[in-house]
Amino acid sequence: MKIAILSRSPRAYSTKRLREAAKARGHEVRVFDTLKFSIFIEKKKPQLHYRNKSFGRYDAIIPRIGASITFFGTAVVRHFEQMGVYTLSSSQAIGVSRDKLRASQILSSHDIGTPATAFVRDKDAVIPAIEKVGGAPVIIKLLEGTQGVGVILADTVKTAQAIVETLQSTKQNVLIQKFVAESKGRDIRCLVVGGKVVAAMRRTAVGDEFRSNVHRGGLVEAVQLSPQYEATAILAAQILGLSVAGVDLLEGNAGPQVMEVNSSPGFEGIERATKIDVAGAVIEHLEEEASFPEVDIRQRLTLKAGYSIVEIPITDDSELVHKSLFNSNLKERDILVLSINRSGLTIPNPRGTREILPGDTLLCFGKQTTLKELIPKRRQSTRKSKSNPA
Ligand SMILES: Nc1ncnc2c1ncn2[C@@H]1O[C@H](COP(=O)(O)OP(=O)(O)O)[C@@H](O)[C@H]1O
Ligand SMILES: [Mg+2]
Repeated sequence: MKIAILSRSPRAYSTKRLREAAKARGHEVRVFDTLKFSIFIEKKKPQLHYRNKSFGRYDAIIPRIGASITFFGTAVVRHFEQMGVYTLSSSQAIGVSRDKLRASQILSSHDIGTPATAFVRDKDAVIPAIEKVGGAPVIIKLLEGTQGVGVILADTVKTAQAIVETLQSTKQNVLIQKFVAESKGRDIRCLVVGGKVVAAMRRTAVGDEFRSNVHRGGLVEAVQLSPQYEATAILAAQILGLSVAGVDLLEGNAGPQVMEVNSSPGFEGIERATKIDVAGAVIEHLEEEASFPEVDIRQRLTLKAGYSIVEIPITDDSELVHKSLFNSNLKERDILVLSINRSGLTIPNPRGTREILPGDTLLCFGKQTTLKELIPKRRQSTRKSKSNPA
């Protein structure tokens, strides 16, 4: 394969390791500086230039987009996607995971622990928000910080309020987050590749530092994950649509709390701590996946007017409950069940003999008019009553 690594730092450890791993597996690989691309938008003819010359054809890209260039970097990746080039991480997933607020909003709608978090703009809302997430000490976080910069622990409500107001006055977006004190300056970094945790380490902050980032001097050691921690890391990466991700978990009393999901995780700390060839695992995964470029299935399938993809929650009183897919007559009604979500696990392409259980969520494609009949009445009515009276 011809593989392009998009990175601003060709000499960085992770970039070098990826290049070595790709070469060792017989691929042609080169590193390109993300900022040296020019994007050209023309009807049905997406083009990229690199250093002002037309960019040749590559089979796959590995984006390593740093936080400071998210906007331009994801635009370049999006252009590769439009040109039909396989990308290890989609532009959409990079963008979402980079935004701590958006990522936690998405994660919290699933069965995943996340620290209680608030986001406010109004001055009068700051103190109530601090109290609501658990009071002081409290964490204040910049929306797009990395390497521990922009994460502050405020000891009192007054300090917290002052910090939030100062940052807001400089037009920064800040999150107010529950301090998971029991994690004691420690967290767990899981390297997820293709739906598996290939390596995991514990990071421990030194001295009176509460941030365990390696860039803040955090010490690393290999760690054996419990099934609960492993499942959480895999699910978090999957929800954000990242096949390669560094998932950071705090060890909370209530189990793992996902802090963030990194789309360009560094390999240095974790490879040294665990002696695992993470870069090799990434390239192996790329080989398996490169023939399946990302498609936006919702967009492709719903172009035909009147058709939709919807998730149908199965309630106890659903007409489908305890029927097999075959006996549900969904097929006859022109409804295709793409997958069933059961207790957080996805059953893709379910067979006709598969029984539908209460609590399942069916991902269905079909005519909107027919699908509507299957959506529980309760949800239809709460939707209506949700309109804000103000
Ligand atoms: N809610 C929290 N409770 C306890 N410690 C936290 C919390 N949020 C962050 N930390 C500590 O601060 C570090 C950096 O936070 P993180 O959100 O991962 O920001 P960054 O993107 O800068 O790494 C974490 O690795 C963890 O050690
Ligand atoms: Mg972090």
